[in-house]
Amino acid sequence: MNALAYSDLKLLAPRRILTGAGCRHALVDLLTGDGRQRPLIVSDPRIGDSPALQDVVSVLRRTWGAVPLTADVPGEPDVDCAEAIAALLKAGQHDCVVAIGGGSVIDAAKGAAVAATNPGRLADYEGFDLFSADPLPVYALPTTAGTGSEVTRVTVLGVNNPPRKISIKGARLVPCAAVVDPDFLRTVPARVGAAAATDALTHALETYLRPASSPVSRALGLRAATMILRVMRAGAGYAEPAHLEALATASMLAGLAFGNSDVGPVHCLAESIGAVYKAPHGAANAVFLGPVLGYYGALVAEPLAEVARTVWPSELAGLDDAAATRALVSAVDAFVAANAVGTVTSLCGGALDIEHIAALAVTNNSNASGPIPMAIADYRAIMVSML
Ligand SMILES: [Fe+2]
Repeated sequence: MNALAYSDLKLLAPRRILTGAGCRHALVDLLTGDGRQRPLIVSDPRIGDSPALQDVVSVLRRTWGAVPLTADVPGEPDVDCAEAIAALLKAGQHDCVVAIGGGSVIDAAKGAAVAATNPGRLADYEGFDLFSADPLPVYALPTTAGTGSEVTRVTVLGVNNPPRKISIKGARLVPCAAVVDPDFLRTVPARVGAAAATDALTHALETYLRPASSPVSRALGLRAATMILRVMRAGAGYAEPAHLEALATASMLAGLAFGNSDVGPVHCLAESIGAVYKAPHGAANAVFLGPVLGYYGALVAEPLAEVARTVWPSELAGLDDAAATRALVSAVDAFVAANAVGTVTSLCGGALDIEHIAALAVTNNSNASGPIPMAIADYRAIMVSML
């Protein structure tokens, strides 16, 4: 038998996934059902702006008294940030982490959960399953619909000297519960939410187009992509409640998709400009998604056309695969422009170092996960086409 002819997926997912408006109210029952006594809340400075977030904190404090909260997580957290949270976890003898925030908060919390139970520095655990002790349990409440970190086995954190992003991965890094409440999205600025939505779409499409993805991951990616593209049709008016609910669920599905497969070259470029220029992750994916899909060309036209025709069945009737694919890419570009997500030049402060970014991208450990092998010359050509 040809060993490559079949797929064998060990599905990684949180033990509990709650979705739908108001599901945050079940958090205390989740925690008490698991026997947790001493949660630490990790969030970001935006927590004061959201009634839904305040709501969760109040309920936790009514249940357990003075539940501590740290809201120091920056937009692009590094290992030092995660280790500082780990010190709080150890000092307070906390038995779990409640992460309420965007992907940065959840990633910092996941890193802290590892650092709280394992010796040495977090950077020592770059790679897959290199830590020995179980991390503290993480309860993830995403407040943006983008990274999918609430359901994945990875945390991406910055390191310095030289600046780059590292991935710490392991099945035990999957949060024990994801509470995906769209009410959290109501106070997210439209531009930030749009960048996050494009990140989620990138997860969905990179998984869907990856030849090695299992049928389960591809199905999750296809469903997530169609849900997100339907929302993107609304352009600058995408942030109405029904759309936010779809985005919250789709982002989680896209997280399950790539969490059980991989991302690809769009992320290799995005993570590279994120490390070098501190470009926000969602916006960075948003600017590279269209050019990378265009570079793949005919190789991905059939699967992308399938996505496009699911979203725009009547508009695309009679068009061939290439035209349907162009319509999809144009719709994404229009959404990115309508919400002022940015351009590659603006994200890099006007000075994109193509050779450096291409060299970084090719060493990213997702480089081989695209539909075609990518060399430095490929990344260079993509970026040249964007200027
Ligand atoms: Fe991403």
